[in-house]
Order: sequence, then C-alpha cells, then structure tokens
Amino acid sequence: MISVVFVCLGNICRSPLAEAIFKDKIVKRGIHNLFEAQSCGTANYHVGDSPDPRTIQNAKKNGVLIDHVGRQLNEDDLDYFDYIFVMDKSNYNNVLRLKNAMQHQHKVFMLRAYDPIKGEEVPDPYYGVERDFQEVFEILDRSVEGAIRFLQNRM
Ligand code: 4NP
Repeated sequence: MISVVFVCLGNICRSPLAEAIFKDKIVKRGIHNLFEAQSCGTANYHVGDSPDPRTIQNAKKNGVLIDHVGRQLNEDDLDYFDYIFVMDKSNYNNVLRLKNAMQHQHKVFMLRAYDPIKGEEVPDPYYGVERDFQEVFEILDRSVEGAIRFLQNRM
C-alpha cells in the first residue's frame, strides 16, 4: 500500500479536492486497494473545518464528492507518507520547515509538475470567484491523473 498526502495552506480548498479527485480516479480504475490518500494544510486556521462550501459545490458540479475534516500536517506525517504532493512553492517551503523535514525532502513533490498543460503551481482560489474554483478543478484533474501515472510507473 502506497500512502499519499496532498498538502495546501488551509486544507479547505485545493488539497481536499485533490484527495477527492485522486480517490475518485483510483476507485473508477479499480486500483484503490493499492493506495491510501489523505490531505492536510500547513496552517492550523481550518483544523476541524469542512472544506470551503465553494469547493464542495464546484466539485459536486464536476461529479466529485468531497468528505473531509481539516487537519494540519505534522512531523509524524513526513515519516508516515510515501509521497507528499504540495500545491505551490509556499507549501513546499512550509513543509520543509517542519522538524526533521530535510531527511524527507525526496518525498515532497510539486503536484503541478504532473500537469501536461504546463504551470508551476496550483493557484489558491480562496480569494477568487467560481471561475477560479473551476480552473483549480481542471488543473487538479489533469495533475492528479499525471501523478497516478507517475505512481504506477514507480510500483
Ligand atoms: P487552500 O486555500 O490552501 O487551498 O485550502 C486557502 C484556504 C484558507 C486560507 C488560505 C488559503 N486562509 O487564509 O484562511
């Protein structure tokens, strides 16, 4: 079993959606027994919170159900997970600021690197409008697809 965690800042917009899209894809492919997936934020602002209602609504519109409770990434997670997919450079730097993080740096990946339509980061839609949430959905859909291919190639 390969364990994967998706990480953003608040764990209410991007990473819970990435987790939900990942789970949806692996179930549809019948490979869900191979993976465990979670999501976390680097910040503690939304610990215990449901995902952003705009993210839930947009995901639903795109046929994906989200069920998540906000959680902050901690140093034990760096030990536990095999792959840590972050949304942007700020997340990357925040992850590497955790205690003993440098020894786990090889497990930290920029999720957008797996998007065939180039772009470095998954933009934060928090201060945006529906169009921004839809753009994030499409970026995550492509990037998660690419990440699954990457993971399968490494198995
Ligand atoms: P996320 O978006 O990192 O994609 O969950 C954000 C959610 C909340 C905040 C920032 C970004 N915030 O500042 O509360």
